[in-house]
Amino acid sequence: MKSKVQRRRSREIFARAEKILVGGVNSPVRAFRSVGGEPLIIERGSRQFLYDADGNKLLDYVCSWGAMLLGHAHPAVSEAIAEQAWDGTSFGATTELEVELATMITAAIPGIEKIRFVSSGTEATMSAVRLARGVTKRDFILKFEGCYHGHADSFLSQAGSGLATLGIAECPGVPQALAELTLNAPYNDLSAVERLFSEHKDKIAAVILEPIAANMGVVLPEAGFLAELREITTRNGALLIVDEVITGFRMHYGAAQQLAGIEADLTTLGKIIGGGLPVAAYGGRADIMNHVAPLGPVYQAGTLAGNPLAMRAGIATLKQLARPGLYIGIHEKAETLVRGLREALAETGVAGRVNARGSLATLFFAADPVNNYTDAKGADTKRYARFFREMLERGIFMAPSQFEAAFVSAAHTAEDVTRTVDAARDSLKAIAAEPSV
Ligand SMILES: Cc1ncc(COP(=O)(O)O)c(C=O)c1O
Repeated sequence: MKSKVQRRRSREIFARAEKILVGGVNSPVRAFRSVGGEPLIIERGSRQFLYDADGNKLLDYVCSWGAMLLGHAHPAVSEAIAEQAWDGTSFGATTELEVELATMITAAIPGIEKIRFVSSGTEATMSAVRLARGVTKRDFILKFEGCYHGHADSFLSQAGSGLATLGIAECPGVPQALAELTLNAPYNDLSAVERLFSEHKDKIAAVILEPIAANMGVVLPEAGFLAELREITTRNGALLIVDEVITGFRMHYGAAQQLAGIEADLTTLGKIIGGGLPVAAYGGRADIMNHVAPLGPVYQAGTLAGNPLAMRAGIATLKQLARPGLYIGIHEKAETLVRGLREALAETGVAGRVNARGSLATLFFAADPVNNYTDAKGADTKRYARFFREMLERGIFMAPSQFEAAFVSAAHTAEDVTRTVDAARDSLKAIAAEPSV
């Protein structure tokens, strides 16, 4: 049901935000530039819902860009954070909590023998690349078009997420000399990877990728893609960095790479392992990780790294995720949602595709399959913007960009999914009634 939404207070707060925060936000996609409409001002979250500053209740499929797999303010996580707050929030020295979370992660992901906690996904990928360069003594990195690995200089070419949303192909401020060290291949294109390796023989330190791409919208790896990359990198003496900032602990209690039957040399994690607090990590083979300071010369440090509040949130989150049947429940709901969206597309005759795996899904307004960034960029972003606004008017918060994923959480119910599919059908009907742009 569409309802007339009151947003007076949110509007007033955003007007103040625009005067003092760049674009009114602290991360670009929050400004809703590509979908239009008024950016949300959130007051609180509870399980699968967000409440804005005017008290409007929204069913949330953004889930802090995937961090909130348990939903907002899960009691076990909130209690752990509150308890720790009374015991101190940062010490600048090691705690047993860091050992506990590290032990949980290394037990779940066999490729990670040693780990280092940092505070954001960007720090994790940036540090992993520095380490790969330090270990191999090579300078080039190879990434895939449309993959996003955070906002460090080396990753800002042909990147997904906010850069895709805003149409930024190359970012001013990145020195040309550094940009030239980043090679790009189309996702799922192994011959392009082979070609780049032969053109830059013994110069590529690492290949980095999202094992399921989720920052150009969801794009799935073709069968054998990851296994082949594992083989190509090993053969060429380069490291394989699997960026699991989104996929880590999302597809199952572990990393997505395990489902593809491979072990990365280095893995990056973030989002879910912090349960909504700023935690990320990079880890991998001990012989590689031992090059990091203080054991080795590759320097990386952080005042708030391994922060006790964040460690408590991460431990509490992983304990909940380890409960039997949890992922099965999430995936069943996500599958029902995806099936419903596909049926709604068929019923309304709107050209679209739903790419999905586990609890990640993207409805592309595209007639043809979307297997890489070029395909994704071909989607009708104006139609997505209309879809986003129609859904929001029906109280459902989808990603404010065609080039992001919808995240289903453990807190979403079967009823939520039914409501979402009904709203999608109505939204698509409204779109079908207007000429394609
Ligand atoms: C796959 C991937 N890597 C790295 C990052 C960067 O993480 P952060 O935003 O915490 O810096 C993101 C952020 O969305 C991501 O999706």
